[in-house]
Amino acid sequence: MSKFEIVHRRSIEQAEEFWAEAATGIEWDKPWERVLDASNAPFYRWFSGGRLNTCHNALDRHVNGGRADQVALIYDSPLTDSQRKLTYRELRDQTALFAGVLAARGITRGDRVIVYMPMIPEALVAVLACARIGAVHSVVFGGFAANELATRIDDAKPSAVISASCGIEPNRIVSYKPLLDRAIELASHIPDFCIILQRPQEHAELTPGFDIDWHDAVAAASPQDCVSLDANDPLYILYTSGTTGEPKGIVRDNGGHAVALHWTMKNIYGIAPGEVYWAASDIGWIVGHSYIMYAPLLHGNTTLLYEGKPVGTPDAGAFWRVVSEHKVAGMFTAPTALRAIKQQDPEGTLAGNYDLSALRSLFLAGERCDPATLHWAEKTLGVPVIDHWWQTETGWAIASNCIGIEPLPVKPGSTTLATPGWDVTVLDAGGSKMPTGKIGAIACKLPLPPGTLLGFWQADDRYRKSYLERFPGYYETGDAGYIDEDGYIYVMSRTDDIINVAGHRLSTGAIEEVLAAHPDVAECAVMGVADDLKGQLPVGLLVLKAGVDRNPDDIVTEVINLVRERIGPVVAFKKAVVADRLPKTRSGKILRGTMRKIADSEEYRLPATIEDPTVLTEIRQALQSIGYAGGAI
Ligand code: COA
Ligand code: AMP
Repeated sequence: MSKFEIVHRRSIEQAEEFWAEAATGIEWDKPWERVLDASNAPFYRWFSGGRLNTCHNALDRHVNGGRADQVALIYDSPLTDSQRKLTYRELRDQTALFAGVLAARGITRGDRVIVYMPMIPEALVAVLACARIGAVHSVVFGGFAANELATRIDDAKPSAVISASCGIEPNRIVSYKPLLDRAIELASHIPDFCIILQRPQEHAELTPGFDIDWHDAVAAASPQDCVSLDANDPLYILYTSGTTGEPKGIVRDNGGHAVALHWTMKNIYGIAPGEVYWAASDIGWIVGHSYIMYAPLLHGNTTLLYEGKPVGTPDAGAFWRVVSEHKVAGMFTAPTALRAIKQQDPEGTLAGNYDLSALRSLFLAGERCDPATLHWAEKTLGVPVIDHWWQTETGWAIASNCIGIEPLPVKPGSTTLATPGWDVTVLDAGGSKMPTGKIGAIACKLPLPPGTLLGFWQADDRYRKSYLERFPGYYETGDAGYIDEDGYIYVMSRTDDIINVAGHRLSTGAIEEVLAAHPDVAECAVMGVADDLKGQLPVGLLVLKAGVDRNPDDIVTEVINLVRERIGPVVAFKKAVVADRLPKTRSGKILRGTMRKIADSEEYRLPATIEDPTVLTEIRQALQSIGYAGGAI
């Protein structure tokens, strides 16, 4: 049996011993009473009865333990042409002061705080300050529109919102404050106050008595110590796309999260404390939560916060410049970022301009990495390039090549084996195991390991219905794929309406809700069509209400703007077309899968249940007119 197999088997067969051992990597105020708490199964809990503080483990512990002068955070921002480095002591002190700002205004254990900030060090300070006092943070990605922020405000009911005057995109300044004001106007819940960081690039108008200036507040604050929390107290809520416009508030605990993330740094990523780790993602996504904010700090690494893009800031060598300048030992990004670089620098020439000798591995996630991109990255960087699979819900990798335990052969297209703690299987619609190599629904046997979701924020029933009911005893991932004869996992597609646009997880159902709200639209369908750069792009088909005789192009422009306004620019919804009718089954179900195949010029079988096959010719023509289905682009 290989070293990896021994570790994996132990993690499943002696899970409590395995994770209790991993938990020694964390400082506890009080040891746990039960490693695995099954008293309320299928809602499992880890380390019940234990007490700790995640911020203490991410900062104070290292300050006290000899890393006070080690750089904890490197901020590298080609978008503002600036850099900053904060040592563990500096980051701890700034966090303690900002925790003082919150505590002085009555924020306490269990209160929610929304953090709507760009990729700047203060965002980490805000998040860690919440963790320090037991407030539950919920970071909202800057590329979402006011409406999405409002939905999250209404669900989390935050006491405070922490924001900045602006974010910076290569082509524009994103004014956060008007978006925040609009969101608060739209929401039914009103936070007690907002704290706004004024950035030099744009000054926001503050409302006296409601908005507080970050710098003024910090100047008057006293530092606040870490508060001891229950292991199962929520650390954060992170909203992710569901099958409708109602996002799912994924809740993470303190204890299991700290234990699992700390364990992954060495065992999955092969990183030693003190080394520089860079997750080129955004703090608004799960990768940013786990591998920009928490895991590297829990593990005593230097984490890197990059406010820039893979291309255009200033060129396709930007990532390699950062790796070489900051001696990055381990890196993590999404395949779409590599495709963007590859498009502009197909031979990988720019990598040759930099000393990349510190880099030992590149991990990829967010979407399936196509083998061509994987090979290009291996050739360009000369290090192992590892596709690993995970979700907002799981918080860390379900399947990976765990180079810190034992590097395994890479099979392009696969995310390698189930990670320790994960018992992964492929099931058919009835819940029976699929034979080797056959595609089905990928499910994980309960209990899930530490660090995974506690459930949805105040919606246990919704969590149970969405993930636990279809296959009793399992967590349904929503992904479809197969496992080969060596146990390698291949994640191929979703079983629901989620699409992945440039590594961003979006719901076509949510986009359809926006289209359907247009007064001239009677019916619509949105599907994720293949895209060379972004992996998938949403494309819409609209059927207009009887009697509407406006120019269809105007209606298309209006719905495109509506999606940008309601969900946000990150959806990249730019293509829609009007059709006379949509293909449906005799029971009235819209055949989105068939239309998607037509758009992608894939072969498809005529669905036996289709009401009227002639509609498919009309759909093909409509899609061709916007550059799909073999049409000219
Ligand atoms: N705040 C405000 N707007 C944002 C934003 C943010 N944080 N992030 C993106 N946007 C906007 C962009 O400005 C753009 O708007 P536009 O339509 O006005 O141009 C739109 O959202 C789409 O942005 P993006 O997805 O960045 O697409 P792009 O075409 O500008 O760049 C890539 C393409 C591949 C370079 C880019 O998507 C990328 O870096 N992807 C990596 C994603 C990633 O790391 N995902 C995390 C999972 S690990
Ligand atoms: P998110 O919650 O935004 O991280 O998105 C999670 C979803 O992205 C998963 O359920 C998969 O559909 C997809 N995904 C993430 N990583 C991979 C991967 N390595 N291979 C295939 N799909 C992936």
